[in-house]
Amino acid sequence: MVKARRIVIARVFQGEPRLEDFRIEEEDLPALRDGQILAEAVYISVDPYQRAYKNMHQVGATMIGSQVARIVESRAADFPVGRYVVGYWGWRDRTVADVGPDAPYFMSPAMLVPDLGELPLSLSLGVLGMPGITAYFGLLEVCKPKKGEVAVVSGAAGAVGSIVGQIARLKGCKVIGFAGSDAKVKWLKEELGFHHAFNYKTNDVTEALKQAAPDGVDVYFDNVGGEMSSAIINSMREYGRISVCGAISGYNESNLPKATIIQHAAIFKQLRMEGFMYIRWHDRWGEGIGQLMQWIREGKIKYHETVTDGFQNTPKAFVGMLQGENLGKAVVKV
Ligand SMILES: NC(=O)c1ccc[n+]([C@@H]2O[C@H](COP(=O)([O-])OP(=O)(O)OC[C@H]3O[C@@H](n4cnc5c(N)ncnc54)[C@H](OP(=O)(O)O)[C@@H]3O)[C@@H](O)[C@H]2O)c1
Repeated sequence: MVKARRIVIARVFQGEPRLEDFRIEEEDLPALRDGQILAEAVYISVDPYQRAYKNMHQVGATMIGSQVARIVESRAADFPVGRYVVGYWGWRDRTVADVGPDAPYFMSPAMLVPDLGELPLSLSLGVLGMPGITAYFGLLEVCKPKKGEVAVVSGAAGAVGSIVGQIARLKGCKVIGFAGSDAKVKWLKEELGFHHAFNYKTNDVTEALKQAAPDGVDVYFDNVGGEMSSAIINSMREYGRISVCGAISGYNESNLPKATIIQHAAIFKQLRMEGFMYIRWHDRWGEGIGQLMQWIREGKIKYHETVTDGFQNTPKAFVGMLQGENLGKAVVKV
C-alpha cells in the first residue's frame, strides 16, 4: 500500500493564517483505476488565491493548491511514467489522480510539463505556469500597452507582478512598480529594469506617481486592490486601462475593506477596468509559455524564486508569502 502525506486545515483561518492552523496527516492510497496516475510531488506552489478561496477552508480538508509532480505509475495513456505533470491536487506529497479527458478538476485540468530544456522544473509553477500566463495575457490582452505609455504594477516584486513589469518594459512602456520593501524596490530597478519603483509602506503612492508619472498613468495592472489601487487609479490619464488581477490587500479580512472611491476618475478620465481569471486563456497556454520561455532564453525576462525546503514547511512558506517574505515566486521543494 502506498502512503501519502497531506496537509489539512486544523482550524479555520482568522485573519492572517498561522502555522497552528495546519496539521499533517498520513493516508493509504488506493490502487490505480483506468484513467488514473500516481504522482509524487517535486515542488508545491504557495499562492495568494489559496487564502482568498474561503469557501474551501474547512477543518479537515486538504489545503488547496497546485504542484508539479513526477508520474510514477500510470493507467492513462497520455500521462506516461517519468513525465512531469502540474495538478491542482492540494498540499499532498503523493496523489492518485484522475487525468482522463472527462476527469473533474479544480482550477485547471492536469497538464503535462513541456520540455523546459535547461530551465528548472519549478518554473512550471511560476513564470512558465499559471503566474506567467496571468502576467502575459492579463497585461497584453486586457491593458493592450503601447510604446511610450506609462504602466504601473502593484505587487511588483511577486510572481505575477515581476513578470508583468518586464513585459511592459519589453513593449516600450515606462514601468513603475510598487512593492513592500526597499530590497524589493532595489531588485526591481537594478535587476529587472523597472524605470521607477517605490516601497508602498514608506512612500505616499499619489506623491510617488506625481514624481514618476507627472502626466498620469495609462496602464495599471492591479495585484493588490484597496487603498493603493484607489490612489493609482485616481492618478490615471484619459483612456487608461486597468487589469484587475488580484486583491491581496483584503484576502485576510473577514469583511470587505473600504477604499476611496474611483468613480470620478473612471468617468472624467474615461477609464476601462476589467477583471479576469487566467483560465480564460487556457486554449492559448502554449503560445504564452512559448513566448515567455523565449524571452527568458534571450535574457529579456528574468525570474527569481523563493524556495522553501521540505513538504512539512509548506504552511511556513504560505504564511511567509502572504506576509511579503517572497521575492518572485514562492515554491516549496518537497
Ligand atoms: N486573476 C487571476 O487569474 C490571478 C492569477 C494569479 C494570481 N492572481 C493574483 O495576483 C496577485 C499576485 O499573485 P502572486 O502569485 O504574484 O503573489 P506574490 O506577489 O508572489 O506574493 C504575494 C505578495 O503580495 C504582497 N502583499 C501581501 N499583503 C499585501 C498588502 N496588504 N498590500 C499589498 N501587497 C501585499 C506581498 O508583497 P509586498 O512585500 O510587496 O507587500 C507578497 O509577497 C494576487 O492578488 C493573486 O491573487 C490572480
